[in-house]
Amino acid sequence: MAVSVKSAREIELMRESCKILAEVHEKLGEAICPGISTAEIDALGERLIRESGCIPNFLNYNGYPASVCVSVNDEVVHGIPSKTRILKEGDIVSLDAGLIYKGYHSDAARTYGVGRISEEAEKLIQVTKQSFFEGIKKARAGNHLYDISAAIDAYVSSYGYGIVRSLVGHGIGTALHEDPQIPNFKQWRRGLKLQAGMTLAIEPMINMGGYEVAWLDDDWTVVTQDGSLSAHYENTVLITDGEPEILTLP
Ligand code: MF3
Ligand code: CO
Repeated sequence: MAVSVKSAREIELMRESCKILAEVHEKLGEAICPGISTAEIDALGERLIRESGCIPNFLNYNGYPASVCVSVNDEVVHGIPSKTRILKEGDIVSLDAGLIYKGYHSDAARTYGVGRISEEAEKLIQVTKQSFFEGIKKARAGNHLYDISAAIDAYVSSYGYGIVRSLVGHGIGTALHEDPQIPNFKQWRRGLKLQAGMTLAIEPMINMGGYEVAWLDDDWTVVTQDGSLSAHYENTVLITDGEPEILTLP
């Protein structure tokens, strides 16, 4: 599949979709506290998305049973919300959510500490977030896709963390997952040339230990093989001739 370049009209719709998602994430972040269940977070996310007149795009995606992926501690991504999974002080939690507005998808993820967390956990969250910003310094027309991958890799590797390899970022638009795939680790080639109008979901998933992951028996929840903590940070980004536009930030 070719990588789509969005028209001016499509870009406006992507902007609106992503702006709504940014607001949903703000509210989800405010709800994080010890004692909340991961199912309550999902229910709040679904309600906020529907109240905005949008559709949760994760719900029923390949059978995924919720609107928000809630992944705790050693869970990397795609944790399934549950009434019996209660967040407690010291946990870290990744929230991944997306929605459809007038046919256009948005996708973003944040990782939060629950109450007071360890300095090591805080550092993992900050490095994961910053790795996204290091990556998008390269996200502009005329550069190449894997320049982004290499920049994320160089930054994260300097901390000795493991970069998840089995899951990658992606193009996004009228589908949640469009071409191209966007690895968060060095590719030893520069890949396709970026063009203004491409919309990309860039999403480093970073483990405090090794990069290897496993799937739980629910066939969704991805965990670190070594049990180390994992963080996730994602935004939908528009490539322009100048600075990239981060569409899912408020
Ligand atoms: N946000 C995820 C991604 O970036 C999508 C989750 S797929 C779901 O690809 F099925 F778990 F919802
Ligand atoms: Co994504």
